[in-house]
Amino acid sequence: MNRVGLVGWRGMVGSVLMQRMVEEGDFAFIEPVYFSTSNAGGKAPSFGGKEAAAPLQDATDIDALKSCDIVITCQGGDYTKEVFPKLRATGWNGHWIDAASALRMNDDAVIILDPVNRNVIDAALAKGGRSWIGGNCTVSLMLMGLGGLFKHGLVEWISAMTYQAASGAGAQNMRELISQMGTIHDSVKDLLADPASAILEIDRKVAETMRSDSFPKKNFRNTPLAGSLIPWIDVPVEHGQSKEEWKGGAECNKILGNPAFRSPGSIPIDGLCVRIGAMRCHSQALTIKLKKDVPLDEITEIIAGANQWVKVVPNDREITERELTPTAVTGTLGIPVGRLHKMAMGPEYLGAFTVGDQLLWGAAEPLRRMLRILLE
Ligand code: HSE
Repeated sequence: MNRVGLVGWRGMVGSVLMQRMVEEGDFAFIEPVYFSTSNAGGKAPSFGGKEAAAPLQDATDIDALKSCDIVITCQGGDYTKEVFPKLRATGWNGHWIDAASALRMNDDAVIILDPVNRNVIDAALAKGGRSWIGGNCTVSLMLMGLGGLFKHGLVEWISAMTYQAASGAGAQNMRELISQMGTIHDSVKDLLADPASAILEIDRKVAETMRSDSFPKKNFRNTPLAGSLIPWIDVPVEHGQSKEEWKGGAECNKILGNPAFRSPGSIPIDGLCVRIGAMRCHSQALTIKLKKDVPLDEITEIIAGANQWVKVVPNDREITERELTPTAVTGTLGIPVGRLHKMAMGPEYLGAFTVGDQLLWGAAEPLRRMLRILLE
């Protein structure tokens, strides 16, 4: 049985990964070895009804990592950068499955999203590939939704305008978002309770609260999110893009096995990435330039047929309000795609909106599925 090292299993993505591995019975096929960056020697957890053979191992102990056939890490990019080169330098030839972005664009790493790029994964496996990296969440969620259009070679370019949840920034940011909501409510709760109070007085107090120094906002770089939004995610890169926006083009093309982003033969993908006050579902409004005028019913069939998780939501107000929201999707593997319609710019321009759980298909799910592919 394969010895599988689990690193970062206690964090937010790691916890979702453990939960999914339990639900899918993955622990029956592995000998888990749990690692810790802070509690080596402590009692290892038991997931999936399986006792770990050893106590918690030190996550920076290269010899301990080397004893594993496969390592899965959700520990983050700094950990990967510190440990991965040392581990490979020993000649370790095991499989490294990683949620962090640190290795994503390396030539010998594959960005894994098997319902979309199983062909790319299989080709890399056949060539001895050993590094399997989960994609950026918005990228993976868009490809899970629109994979059919790409598979049919219909996409000339895409503009993706995102509405990204607090979870993408981290667990502390989710907590801070809720604190912000509570602080805003507290500041006007007496006025709210009085039906005769003036709405502009409530609005003035809310704005004053959100702008005050004591508003809880340190995790969001001192910018309020609740009741507002933040149109910048991650560090600046070139061309006026943020890194999150750059990933859209760079990672999508890599996942699909296309030439590198911005080089001939690649698909231009660009847009603006915006943080909004949702908890863990990212949404995206998409403008898709098709290579030709394809009837909407054919488009619907192509999108819906791409995988078992995508679901086309009819472009109807009631159904959209019920099914195409972060609240409806959170905690599920479903990827609804809706608002499908030809746009005023012409019959090759398709409008679409998609929602997906950032911690499931956006982070944990592709990792556990890669593990299962390796165990096949
Ligand atoms: N970078 C993403 C975000 C999450 O900030 O929402 C991780 O892919």
